[in-house]
Amino acid sequence: MRIFSGIQPTGRKHVGNYIGAIRGYLEGQERGDPAIYCIVDLHATSVAYDPKALPRYVLDTTAMLMAAGLDPDRCILFRQSDVREHSELTWLLSSVTAYGDLQRMHQFKDKSEREQELVRTSLFLYPVLQAADILIYKTDEVPVGDDQRQHLELAREIARRFNSTYAEVFVEPRHVIPDVGARVMDLQDHVAKMSTTYSSDSGLVYIDDPPDAVRRKVKRAQTDSGTEVVRAPEKPGITNLIEIMAVSRGVEPEDVEREFDGQGYGAFKEAVGEALVELLAPVRGRYEELRPDEDALRETLRGGAERARTIAAGTMTEVRAAMGVGELG
Ligand code: TYM
Repeated sequence: MRIFSGIQPTGRKHVGNYIGAIRGYLEGQERGDPAIYCIVDLHATSVAYDPKALPRYVLDTTAMLMAAGLDPDRCILFRQSDVREHSELTWLLSSVTAYGDLQRMHQFKDKSEREQELVRTSLFLYPVLQAADILIYKTDEVPVGDDQRQHLELAREIARRFNSTYAEVFVEPRHVIPDVGARVMDLQDHVAKMSTTYSSDSGLVYIDDPPDAVRRKVKRAQTDSGTEVVRAPEKPGITNLIEIMAVSRGVEPEDVEREFDGQGYGAFKEAVGEALVELLAPVRGRYEELRPDEDALRETLRGGAERARTIAAGTMTEVRAAMGVGELG
């Protein structure tokens, strides 16, 4: 079972990333043969960014993933730009990607509308690079949050079109989206997902927020009318907190509803804050230990890239032969 996922080096990662995706990476690490996790610095160049800060953000994200429990002895952890085959495959896959499909991508529409100066072509091609990331490892399963659904559908479509146009090279990957916590919402704005780029500081909880900040943000989270702690469409704020609580404690949402039946929002929010602190404090502690040793982090990424490259290069030999480009083997 080959497992692959990617995460952007946007500096600090938040509880949505942890609950929606990183938990899945940890579970995948137990089953993957191998499990491959990629810090996608090339994707980060598709919007305005700071080239001096990007390498630092990659190290932040590496340390954060390891603090959360990824173990480079049990998975392949690497930086996307270190394996150049991803870029080459992006170009080649664009020959089996419909222009109209890329125009329909929600994330392209959202992000291009928000760009102030320049809508980069790389933002338009972003889903093709993502497909290349996944397909180059002949991935079976991709653990992701709900917001990646459309990108995964496109990756499957690209694999199918390549296989029928050229030769059976690629595997059609499945997404693995958690039942609870697939879309953690902004604590202040319940129609928006929690997001590093778009949420305000009080709308998101960073994985490495100090315990006091975690408690304060949860306490000030927008709630809904009424007093009952139950999941309901008209109670998006409480529903979000119930899901966060359930995942933090490793129980079902129904258990949370039962426990807080009749207790009101105040007591409930205090308990959610505590549960999140218990989940995040050990990760934060390990992060503070791991982050200063940059040589060790770079070494981890180097080792990961070497292992990833071996697999990627094998696939590229097949792709080039199938497409009739490059030297014939
Ligand atoms: P990124 O870096 O935005 O997010 C990393 C992972 O976190 C999930 N996630 C969430 N889950 C639940 N609730 C939220 N509020 C929330 N916010 C983010 C995302 O679904 C994702 O799984 N395009 C990808 C990176 C990528 C990738 C890949 C993913 C590049 N190549 C190949 C999978 C496979 C992204 O921007 O993730």
